[in-house]
Amino acid sequence: MDKIKIRGGKVLEGKIHISGAKNAALPLICASLLTDETVTLTNMPMLSDIKAMNLLLTQLGTQIDEFDDFIDGHPAKTYAYRTKEAVSLIAPYDYVRKMRASYYVLGPLLARYGKCELSLPGGCAIGARPMDIHLSSLEQMGAKIEIKNGYIFADVKGRLKGTHIIFPGVSVGATCNILMAAVLAEGRTVLENAAKEPEIGDLANLLNAMGAKIEGIGTSVLTIDGVEKLHGAKHKVIADRIEAGSYAVAAAITRGKIELINALPWTLKRPLQVLKDMGVRVTENENSIVIDAKGCTLTGQDIMTEPFPGFPTDLQAQFLALMLTAEGASMVTETIFENRFMHVPELLRMGANINVHGHASAIVRGVKKLSGAPVMATDLRASFALILAGLVAEGETTVNRVYHLDRGYEKLEEKLKSVGADIERIKEGDEE
Ligand code: UD1
Repeated sequence: MDKIKIRGGKVLEGKIHISGAKNAALPLICASLLTDETVTLTNMPMLSDIKAMNLLLTQLGTQIDEFDDFIDGHPAKTYAYRTKEAVSLIAPYDYVRKMRASYYVLGPLLARYGKCELSLPGGCAIGARPMDIHLSSLEQMGAKIEIKNGYIFADVKGRLKGTHIIFPGVSVGATCNILMAAVLAEGRTVLENAAKEPEIGDLANLLNAMGAKIEGIGTSVLTIDGVEKLHGAKHKVIADRIEAGSYAVAAAITRGKIELINALPWTLKRPLQVLKDMGVRVTENENSIVIDAKGCTLTGQDIMTEPFPGFPTDLQAQFLALMLTAEGASMVTETIFENRFMHVPELLRMGANINVHGHASAIVRGVKKLSGAPVMATDLRASFALILAGLVAEGETTVNRVYHLDRGYEKLEEKLKSVGADIERIKEGDEE
């Protein structure tokens, strides 16, 4: 397994181009299952999760054409998806186990074909992550759901029926899945307490471009008037706010200055406010953000994760790492997932001062220095937090299990190197 080696202490300076959002691209790919025409997605990030989703769709019968493209002068992929007729309606265990977002095929397949078999995703490193909201919503739309042998068997006679659904909790996945189911349902569906993440707006915009009738985009009430058929469309994937937020922290933690090209400030309001409150200079332009922490003394701040527009859980680990370099104490509260402090024991090995209380909160105290160490993380964002700590630690840090990072950070070493980081990937077999 590859590792990433970092020698800390460099002040990062320059520009980083932000890629298309993984969490938008995954449901967008599955939306292509709703039509027999071609859906073309541009600004697609080159990530292992995208490859995994493409493999699953190929297996369902989708023809995928891949093109090398340039978006605003930077290389990106364009993919054209065409599912003339599905050859399978099954998402097998081997796919779902490797990538939970495989469950995004459920809504589209059920809506277009009236049937889908999906392996139940189990828990994962950050918590139990059930699918009850997805399933009870589909039942309210007339689907019959049975769980047997670790699989969800979903089917509906005729079309799904539009109805009024009040989600019992805010779920990104359930909002996307039910939105994709509702666009081909009979009649009107109203989704109340829907998640408002920018990636959901991106999905709704593609669906409308395909002929769907969705109103209320960006709000917690989505109204969908079902149509009989959708057509092809072309869509540019929204910028990755979590990647942008992660590199914003890389600038702040090294007391450097980075311009995040193609980042959208409106998608990062809360994290940018936290940076400002800590003492970082933040300039928000229409399509870029400048993070300038040169010469700054940062002060600790409290953060609490919440659904959008609150502070994103996917930036919690990175900001927690940043708090280690601030003066005073910070309280970090996690409200979305029940087990999302797995990075803490690894940071402690680097000299951090963090006290976790139960599963929900951590008190982080600024330390004079961190020291490099071999570390490993159990999930994507936690792995980036270790990279961040490595960037300021004395000596060398080796982050193991790089496959987590490859799921969500395109060209990670290349981007960090371009702003002055001393970082390299050690390929399996190169060392030891
Ligand atoms: C998505 C993101 C993930 C992010 C998360 C929260 C993708 C591929 N992943 O995950 O990076 O951290 O949103 O912003 O976009 N829940 C239930 N029942 C359900 C569904 C969810 O109880 O049926 C709970 C979950 O366990 C969790 C909370 O609701 O505690 C939020 O989960 P959800 O918003 O659904 O996260 P994902 O869509 O899985």
